[in-house]
Amino acid sequence: MRISLSSTFVLLSTLFPAYGVHARCRNVPGSAGFPGADQWSTLNTTVNGNLVAVVPSAKYCADIPGGCTEVEWTSALFRSTIPGAMNQVNFEQGYDLTPPSVCLQNSTTTCGQGDVPIYAVEAETVADVQAAVQFAQTYDLRIAVKSSGHDYLGRSTAPNSLLIHMRKFTNVNFTDGFMVNGQNMGSAVTVGPGVHLQDVYLQSLAQGKIVVGGTAATVCPAGGYLQGAGHSAIAPLLGLAADNALEFQIVVSSGQLLTVNKASNSDLFFALRGGGAGSWGVIVSATVRTFPTFNVTGSVIELAASSNTAAAALAGVHAQHIFDLDTIRGGQYFYLEVTNGIPVMTITTVMPNTTMDEGTALLTPFLNDALAIPGVSLISQNSQTAPVNEVLYMSDDAAGFNLVLGSRLIPTTAYQATNASATVEAVYKRLLDAGTLGILGNLVAGGQVSANADIVSALILANEWFDSASLSDIDTIRHTFQTTGLPILEQLSGADAGSYSNEADLFEPDFQTTFYGPNYAKLSAIKSVYDPSDLFIVAAGVGSERWDEWGLCTV
Ligand SMILES: Cc1cc2nc3c(=O)[nH]c(=O)nc-3n(C[C@H](O)[C@H](O)[C@H](O)COP(=O)(O)OP(=O)(O)OC[C@H]3O[C@@H](n4cnc5c(N)ncnc54)[C@H](O)[C@@H]3O)c2cc1C
Ligand SMILES: *[C@@H]1O[C@H](CO)[C@@H](O)[C@H](O)[C@H]1NC(C)=O
Ligand SMILES: *[C@@H]1O[C@H](CO)[C@@H](O)[C@H](O)[C@H]1NC(C)=O
Ligand SMILES: *[C@@H]1O[C@H](CO)[C@@H](O)[C@H](O)[C@H]1NC(C)=O
Ligand SMILES: *[C@@H]1O[C@H](CO)[C@@H](O)[C@H](O)[C@H]1NC(C)=O
Ligand SMILES: *[C@@H]1O[C@H](CO)[C@@H](O)[C@H](O)[C@H]1NC(C)=O
Ligand SMILES: *[C@@H]1O[C@H](CO)[C@@H](O)[C@H](O)[C@H]1NC(C)=O
Repeated sequence: MRISLSSTFVLLSTLFPAYGVHARCRNVPGSAGFPGADQWSTLNTTVNGNLVAVVPSAKYCADIPGGCTEVEWTSALFRSTIPGAMNQVNFEQGYDLTPPSVCLQNSTTTCGQGDVPIYAVEAETVADVQAAVQFAQTYDLRIAVKSSGHDYLGRSTAPNSLLIHMRKFTNVNFTDGFMVNGQNMGSAVTVGPGVHLQDVYLQSLAQGKIVVGGTAATVCPAGGYLQGAGHSAIAPLLGLAADNALEFQIVVSSGQLLTVNKASNSDLFFALRGGGAGSWGVIVSATVRTFPTFNVTGSVIELAASSNTAAAALAGVHAQHIFDLDTIRGGQYFYLEVTNGIPVMTITTVMPNTTMDEGTALLTPFLNDALAIPGVSLISQNSQTAPVNEVLYMSDDAAGFNLVLGSRLIPTTAYQATNASATVEAVYKRLLDAGTLGILGNLVAGGQVSANADIVSALILANEWFDSASLSDIDTIRHTFQTTGLPILEQLSGADAGSYSNEADLFEPDFQTTFYGPNYAKLSAIKSVYDPSDLFIVAAGVGSERWDEWGLCTV
């Protein structure tokens, strides 16, 4: 339409006063401003030899004499040491590049660089981070920032980029009195972004303490976890991880190291606690509250269903018991996974300050109703009472395969409706019949979390594929959440439900509202203060609407 041409011009020039309507492209190999070997070498000297060339993990393994073992390939701990590796290997692939560029395990003779960065600074000091940021500013390069490489939206990798890899920032420092602006905030721990949750749990146990953290081994709390807000099985008791953050140290796009807390750069403090990972700068440490540790009873129940109908009925019965844990502010993960055609629901429950007998009693009403469903049978039931650190501790995370997620937060009202159970049952039945392989329910948002936002749980849909899938099948699967899963899920969540940005779909069309709710305008304004040149752009992150899918050219 002719009319919209001029209105588009007005709109664009309002939104991008700095760049007008001309696309601005960052430098990539081959463009005139891309640094030459001498400049890279100078950077390498500045960062004390910590600059490395990056290759996809399959190539990295192929280049090692003897290769990587299958145990290594599937270990998140091992993969976190490889600069180019993502935990989910699909995020290393350049499916959307022209032509597509992939590098697959066991077929590395025709390996493309895909969405993997070109160089990485394996940063050891704040000065290394600052040098990398300044280098990217000087040469107008795409930056990627990575701690563990867990990101389910692939935000910690980018084609033609310079990666700042933070895995060597492994400092951990406990204190009984953390000071913010002269005020004693009490017991806290400061961690670098290379510190894994499993280390936090072990080291805090030795101190008789615990922090709010996820059920994962290698997720980095000072990386993407806190920036997404961070849910936890003990969040109903103690609030989200972000609710317990006290301070960040961050290198912003000017290269400056900032102290960020409620008194200093408080607007950025707001953004770093849920405003989305990767959009603000490079975090070099985060300080979070610690609590005296306590015992929990952890219970794992596995139930098999003989059909999709039985599995859906099980989900409906589960919904009837969704508030059973409220009295003790417990947390729960309920994961329905279809393996070889058989749906199995694994229910992992964390019950604070609850004895084994009390825990069993709390779960019995659900279990009795579940086992009364025709076709539902008990595979196993185990529980332990132990310090919460031990129950949340994981020795490693599964990695090395192809996986995409999509999710919706489920409002409390959806479970309070008189026909809630029937609705849940109908939604699960449709999802299973549509071929959904995994439906993960996170009951981690009641209690202290729903005191802040009336959400009770989140449902996450998982889709996977084998390397042997065709590119067109992969494309279909990558978009399945939007085309198939979401319309079904919305029958439960409602059409305007939000989504947890860390466990979500890369292709959310209205990510601004879906991930950031009413806060997007405020977050955009904060970004323009701390990152006026859009150095830190990630998929579905604040400001990304100004850039193409690779963060290389403005649109
Ligand atoms: C097995 C598994 C279990 C999980 N369990 C939970 C859970 O229980 N609760 C929960 O809330 N989430 C959970 N998650 C999701 C997790 O919170 C996100 O994947 C999170 O983004 C991981 O952060 P990371 O830094 O470890 O990952 P990365 O992939 O390294 O980074 C993720 C994002 O953070 C940015 N980033 C990383 N480091 C920095 C830094 N130093 N400074 C600035 N930006 C940085 C990256 O650019 C990227 O955008 C889980 C994920 C996995 C794989
Ligand atoms: C950076 O310097 C170190 C030490 O001199 C060297 O081993 C490494 O190969 C260099 N990196 C690159 C990308 O050339
Ligand atoms: C690669 O080979 C190993 C060892 O034979 C095997 O275990 C693995 O499944 C293969 N991976 C793929 C993607 O084919
Ligand atoms: C540890 O934290 C305390 C309190 O915040 C601080 O005084 C101390 O300098 C820190 N130690 C290290 C080694 O960073
Ligand atoms: C657990 O119980 C102990 C002892 O009664 C109490 O001191 C502590 O505050 C409780 N912890 C939680 C998290 O409820
Ligand atoms: C925690 O549980 C252990 C058993 O695992 C028990 O020995 C200990 O007394 C419990 N601690 C408290 C405070 O209840
Ligand atoms: C539940 O009730 C709502 C509102 O009354 C209705 O729209 C919906 O169709 C019902 N769902 C089921 C599965 O009965």
